[in-house]
Amino acid sequence: MNAVSRWVGERLPVTGRQFKELTNEPVPYHLKRWWFALGGTPAYLFIVQIFTGILLAFYYEASPATAYRSVEYITNEVAFGWFIRSVHKWAATLMIAAVILHQIRVFFTGAYRRPREINWFIGMCLLMCTLMTGFTGYSLVFEQLSFWGATVGANIADTTPLIGPFLKNMMLAGPDYNEATLSRFFILHAAVLPVTMVMLIAVHITVIRLQGVTEFRFKDEEGGTPKTFNFFPDHLYTELIIGLILMILLSALATIFPATMGPQANPLQTPEVIKPEWFFYVAFRWLKLFGGTFAILSMGFIIFTMFTWPFIDSWLRKHTKFQEASVWVGVAGALAVISLTVWEAVARH
Ligand code: HEM
Repeated sequence: MNAVSRWVGERLPVTGRQFKELTNEPVPYHLKRWWFALGGTPAYLFIVQIFTGILLAFYYEASPATAYRSVEYITNEVAFGWFIRSVHKWAATLMIAAVILHQIRVFFTGAYRRPREINWFIGMCLLMCTLMTGFTGYSLVFEQLSFWGATVGANIADTTPLIGPFLKNMMLAGPDYNEATLSRFFILHAAVLPVTMVMLIAVHITVIRLQGVTEFRFKDEEGGTPKTFNFFPDHLYTELIIGLILMILLSALATIFPATMGPQANPLQTPEVIKPEWFFYVAFRWLKLFGGTFAILSMGFIIFTMFTWPFIDSWLRKHTKFQEASVWVGVAGALAVISLTVWEAVARH
């Protein structure tokens, strides 16, 4: 054993004590509550996505002539293909939900405030990448809905002032949906976006490690010095148990509600109802309500406001009497998102 540790020690000159210090951040006690440690959930689901995504990529063929057939082959013929595909689909849904819930927690606890503005910004980039990964993944199956969803998405991008046609061209690898479109979606979905997310998550976690998480005191902790516990092994065990529960949940969802296939894409026949995935319902309803350039510009403005919210909030707190404006903005935003999503979910058109 000594010989092994000497061999490793010569090549990686980090002592056991230094390694312990590096990994053993004292974690504030409130992270015992799952709501406050929600960031680990999308991280875990992201790993599930990478693992199942690599398995799917062994069989998926990204061209309009072969994509649908290859997904059918995965679903019906590859051993456990249906299960891996269903887990990938459900983990995508849960990951998007977990990222949104984590962001809601960070927002309503004011954990984005000074000095954590940079991590809020990185988090917003992660949210955008997660949504884009969902969009490109949905388009890969080459079903009627995914084909028309991508076409509508590109036409919406086209209405952006000045850069619209450029965006549409970049998305579709040409002025219209063509032979190269699916391979563009595939490279974005399976390489560009996941690699970008790995880098963003690494920076996100490094910043958290450098700053520590925001400390909150609850009634049961009032008075005395703030309680902490060790990251290793205590918090890691908690995360592993959450991971185990998620694995059981994912397996149950994938088995009870396996991923199905709609009719194959037909570029000549527009379906009666075009719907994106649930996480774009809000944007889709907004577009239907306001239409064209105004809808695009207002959505751009809302996203810009979300990115810069820590600075807007700090300005409001310094220069106005609206100290808790973020609570009202947050409640109004959440109600608007929920209402538009439900409206789109129940509407036929
Ligand atoms: C793939 C997506 C994401 C992953 C894996 C992730 C991971 C994490 C983790 C592990 C933490 C530590 C505390 C906790 O567990 O809550 C954290 C904290 C934080 N996250 Fe995220 N996050 C993601 C997305 C986001 C988004 C979308 C935002 C906001 C726009 C955000 C903003 C923050 C901030 C400001 C903190 C510090 C919170 C504090 O100090 O209490 N993150 N994140």
